[in-house]
Amino acid sequence: MPRPFCYLQKRFIPLEEARLPVMTHAFLYGTAVFEGVRGNWSDERGETLIFRPIEHFQRLKQSAHIMHIGLPQSAEELSDITAQVVAKAGFHEDTYIRPIAYKSGEVIGPKLDGVEDDFMCFAIPFGNYLDPYAGLRCQTSTWRRVPDTSIPARAKVNGLYVNSALAKTEAVENGFDEAIMLNDDGHVSEGSGENLVMVRHGRLITPARSDNVLEGITLDSVFELARN
Ligand SMILES: Cc1ncc(COP(=O)(O)O)c(C=O)c1O
Repeated sequence: MPRPFCYLQKRFIPLEEARLPVMTHAFLYGTAVFEGVRGNWSDERGETLIFRPIEHFQRLKQSAHIMHIGLPQSAEELSDITAQVVAKAGFHEDTYIRPIAYKSGEVIGPKLDGVEDDFMCFAIPFGNYLDPYAGLRCQTSTWRRVPDTSIPARAKVNGLYVNSALAKTEAVENGFDEAIMLNDDGHVSEGSGENLVMVRHGRLITPARSDNVLEGITLDSVFELARN
């Protein structure tokens, strides 16, 4: 029977059995980094194809490094744990995989050093996040993108997503599907959960890496496909 599965405190367990203490530092202060990895079910191959896992885990390790979160496992070892979580979940449909490296210590105070770390990962069934065929109605958000000088945008920090949540909520409340966030200087940065790219005069253009954006793996794939 397929069911959401989880790797937590070095154990593989059904997600419904996963528990964290309420004083977990990551819950108190948002001190965690994560990835959102797609598992695409292939009827033809009878297995889930995990989208660019090594790149996701290399980025997770970089995010963890920036946030002083110990993540000693290699990208390959983390991919292997993830593949086991997906296999144990056993879904024959698309999944969403959420690896998180987080401050697991039960400590008061917004510091990073001297607080215990842990790594967890879960997989749940999940269809399209946004409709890829209908097109999206986007609103330019009144919320500005958090500048890199306040929280590094190239690190996928859980706490940083308050910014995305405010922008997305505003857009949906106003009848739109998604928010486009601007930088403080008024230039386009990115969506609440995706990079932006457009075709202009036959070329792909996208905001610069210095425009407070996450260095997207999907974006990289778009450029790679276009190049080929
Ligand atoms: C803020 C933000 N920008 C961009 C992206 C796209 O990143 P990727 O293509 O690596 O999933 C995401 C994805 O979660 C995101 O949250």
